[in-house]
Amino acid sequence: MDRTRWYKDAVFYQIWPRSFCDGNGDGIGDLQGVLQKLDYIASLGVTGIWFSPLYPSPQADFGYDIANYYDINPEYGTLDDFKQVLDGAHERGMRLIMDLVVNHTSDECDWFVQSRASKDNPYADWYIWRDGKTPGSPDEGGTPPNNWDSLFEGGAWEYEPNRDQWYLHIFAKKQPDLNMDNPAVRAEVENIMRFWLDMGVDGFREDVITYISKVPELPNDNPLKPAARGMRFYDHGPRVHEYLQQFRQNVLNAYDCMTVGEAPMISPAKALEYCAEGPQQELDMVFTFEHMLADCLFTDWLPRPFDLRQYKRALGRWQTGLAEDAWNALYIENHDHPRIISRYGSEEYREESGKSLACSYLFLRGTPFVYQGQEIGMTNTHLERIEDSVDVSTFNQVRRLQTIGVSESACLQLVNRASRDHARTPMQWSARQGAGFVGGDGTAEPWFPINSNFQDINVEAAEDDPNSLLAFYREAIVLRRRLPVIREGRYREFKRQSHTIFAYAREMPGQRVLVVCSFTDKLSFFSAAKEYDLAKGELCLCNYEDAHAEDNAFFLRPYECRVYLFEE
Ligand code: NOJ
Repeated sequence: MDRTRWYKDAVFYQIWPRSFCDGNGDGIGDLQGVLQKLDYIASLGVTGIWFSPLYPSPQADFGYDIANYYDINPEYGTLDDFKQVLDGAHERGMRLIMDLVVNHTSDECDWFVQSRASKDNPYADWYIWRDGKTPGSPDEGGTPPNNWDSLFEGGAWEYEPNRDQWYLHIFAKKQPDLNMDNPAVRAEVENIMRFWLDMGVDGFREDVITYISKVPELPNDNPLKPAARGMRFYDHGPRVHEYLQQFRQNVLNAYDCMTVGEAPMISPAKALEYCAEGPQQELDMVFTFEHMLADCLFTDWLPRPFDLRQYKRALGRWQTGLAEDAWNALYIENHDHPRIISRYGSEEYREESGKSLACSYLFLRGTPFVYQGQEIGMTNTHLERIEDSVDVSTFNQVRRLQTIGVSESACLQLVNRASRDHARTPMQWSARQGAGFVGGDGTAEPWFPINSNFQDINVEAAEDDPNSLLAFYREAIVLRRRLPVIREGRYREFKRQSHTIFAYAREMPGQRVLVVCSFTDKLSFFSAAKEYDLAKGELCLCNYEDAHAEDNAFFLRPYECRVYLFEE
């Protein structure tokens, strides 16, 4: 089938279902809740929805631990509810993609329940089982097959007495890694894809897809490596391209669908191996993490002040690195990161910095994703106690910090800065009890506490204010979709050395756009390059009234942003 590459004109909205909207009044988001909000989502101008996992799951990692790939979590509804949402999205001109989590399953997935029961059953080889380095259970002095770390929970191996063997889990213990080298596992992945594509979904976001192939010998890693030992033996593993090409040829090519792979810490050069357009193309885009590390070292848990130059460098490297050869996925928030205004912007200048942040990525080349609540400027929450966190990775980060002697209060501070919990508080729809998130009479306890600022920051309040961040997102998305240069144009950056201004242009013959964003609460001076005669440009978007320029220059007010359009 000829691929239309419709995703290049798309703007996606990400729903993390547990916290989006509760339709039935039990305090947990669900599909009937989503159905009620489809008009709202469409009103943003977005043309696609990405659902974080909706499948039955014990929720150890909020759905990224799937127990059954062919159904819907009963807390969220039924397959019929899902079909209603799918049809409702399509009727409103929005595509819908599912999260495909196949690096691992839940330990409560029937495949694993059988696999762990014995060494001799149809699923015995579906997961990565190995004998211990020293035989026996840990109590008997048995030791794991190698020294790899789990990214979430201590060592990467868990002992199973029924088999007197260990299974690999790169994430939590409740997330055993599938053995993708087993052809039956790959055939099952293909079935899962077909099942959802045949139902009408438009593609997949593929969870940690670069991890699915492990070096079969599973060698020990350097023992002195401080963290993530083992990663070099499974990130871009030996057969990952072979497997992704199989999925494409056997399944995806038959559908007009798109895929975006999560690819932690990938470089643009590596990304081209997956995404370069051509007959060998495996994925349509990848989510990189590089620009999300501008206020921390390696992970959110090693914080430092936000460095705009690093943010710009990362974005620019991807714009020019993929250029015409592949397509970017653009985002500044998702369910794995604290809220962007609290990180890279300013809670004091919440609306202004939210708008500047929006402009810093919405006009780049690629497909933008907007995370629920980002469009109204939701901010980080405040946890009183470490125990109030509900996130498995936070829990384990804290445990790790405690073992190296970090104090309780320092850990709590880190949780309040870096935890994934911040992105997972319920969506703030109104100032009413339950923030309009809780359905029914609104009195049920929400599954996770609502941010205490919901009376000020909510959709209803934003709808009443023509200058709200929400209104700005709508305008920016409409503008983006109207201008061919945003899809086609070349990327060019100005003032690279500036610590306070991000300025870039998108250029094609006949149409150019100049975007200038301030990232400081001080005044900062911008003078346009002479090819950009501001007097001849149309100022299409700005977050302040009375935006002037004199002698082709102006002072940007705190977090001011401007978008100029030049048409020749
Ligand atoms: C990436 C997902 O985005 C994250 O939420 C999850 O915890 C891990 N992959 C493991 O599935």
